[in-house]
Amino acid sequence: MARSTQVFITAFLALAVGIGWGCSKVEWPEPAAGQHVALPTLPAPPYPYSDLNFPEQWLNDPALALFGGFGDPLTITDAGATLGRVLFHDVQLSADNSVSCENCHKQAHAFADVKAGSTGISGTPLSRNTLGLFNLRYQRRMFWDLRAVGLINQVLQPIGHPDEMGMDLAELPAKLDSLPYYPDLFAAAFGDPNIDLDRIAEGLAQFLLSIRSYQSRYDAGLTNGFADFTASELIGKGVFFRGDTRCNQCHSGLNFFSTQAFINGLEMDYGAAGDAGIGAITGNPSDDGRFKTVSLRNVGLTAPYMHDGRFSDLRAVVDFYSDNILQHPYLDERFSDNGIGPPGQEPYRLELTEEERVGLVDFLHTLSDTSMTVDPVFSSPF
Ligand code: HEC
Ligand code: HEC
Repeated sequence: MARSTQVFITAFLALAVGIGWGCSKVEWPEPAAGQHVALPTLPAPPYPYSDLNFPEQWLNDPALALFGGFGDPLTITDAGATLGRVLFHDVQLSADNSVSCENCHKQAHAFADVKAGSTGISGTPLSRNTLGLFNLRYQRRMFWDLRAVGLINQVLQPIGHPDEMGMDLAELPAKLDSLPYYPDLFAAAFGDPNIDLDRIAEGLAQFLLSIRSYQSRYDAGLTNGFADFTASELIGKGVFFRGDTRCNQCHSGLNFFSTQAFINGLEMDYGAAGDAGIGAITGNPSDDGRFKTVSLRNVGLTAPYMHDGRFSDLRAVVDFYSDNILQHPYLDERFSDNGIGPPGQEPYRLELTEEERVGLVDFLHTLSDTSMTVDPVFSSPF
């Protein structure tokens, strides 16, 4: 290569890096006179959400395929998920511009909250523990009582909820239209700048579906025979997959979850304790206390635990399963000594040793994916 060409290329690269070539920022129209709003900082070109995917073993997993998640009709585009990222982190979606989705769904905690009763616009604590948000492609039904079918039908609900974001949904499209950045974001996502509730829901759903979590120490262990696990983590893994504990019969497969809801014996009478779960919807006593079988991925990041956040740490959860499951009339049969037969049997008493309890807690921590919790692709652009 001629020396002059070399000098030229070096100078060009230096200039490119100097002006931030390849990672420039999106410019927004000027805010209206007197309008004081925070503007999102977004990369141009957008982050490649459409390229993010689960690894091969997830895509080929027959158990996960059974859950039908891949039948979700939503296609994730880079511009659609970018719009969703801004919406998710934007306080403008709330009536008084004080609450965003991230207010309760915190990225550092796998998009769950650190307190049992999250508070939104009204300051009244919510009665149920905030759920973490990841691998939602596998969830057909949303909320602890599975009352919303499909993400698209769920995402607008917190915006309109008087205790969460308190926004009059009928006014939301016009409000977003008045902000300098949304018309461009909707145009990039949908081809024209029109804003309506369907498009808001679609943007949020695309973003949420892009949040995938499969990079934990447990996942590394699957590829290297758990060579990096401590002795205690190996003991805990043994307890989790051991036939008599049956943990993996409900928190099952690569996602450590079930799309079904079960009764795990926290109460004898859930209605009297304040929340009957699915039973409150169906009125059927056999559904009292039936709650979503949450994924145990990232469980080390999402304390407190259970639908009402009653347990403040994983040790308390493990002690509960070992010693304190209650004989609810429809307690799941997996909690009986032989694990089969009708529901409502006397609960098993695992009487785990101290070593097994510590090990089980340590094992549950290996399911944490700390790449997702810091990935800028999912973080606030404000
Ligand atoms: C004030 C706190 C709060 C805010 C704000 C909030 N959420 Fe939630 N979110 C919760 C709680 C609590 C639950 C569980 C409620 C239940 O099961 O009844 C939940 C559940 C969910 C679920 C169901 C997850 C699953 O696995 O079933 C999704 C999805 C979700 N929220 C998305 C959002 C989006 C999108 C926004 C913003 C538009 C938002 N949330 C704003 C507290 C909040
Ligand atoms: C019969 C099904 C079933 C079995 C067996 C089971 N679980 Fe659960 N698990 C559930 C359900 C349902 C919930 C949510 C219950 C609620 O909140 O009311 C839950 C909740 C949890 C939570 C709290 C998650 C959170 O984010 O709040 C942890 C941790 C957990 N289980 C661990 C275990 C361990 C460890 C075992 C084995 C000792 C086990 N589970 C056995 C169904 C089961």
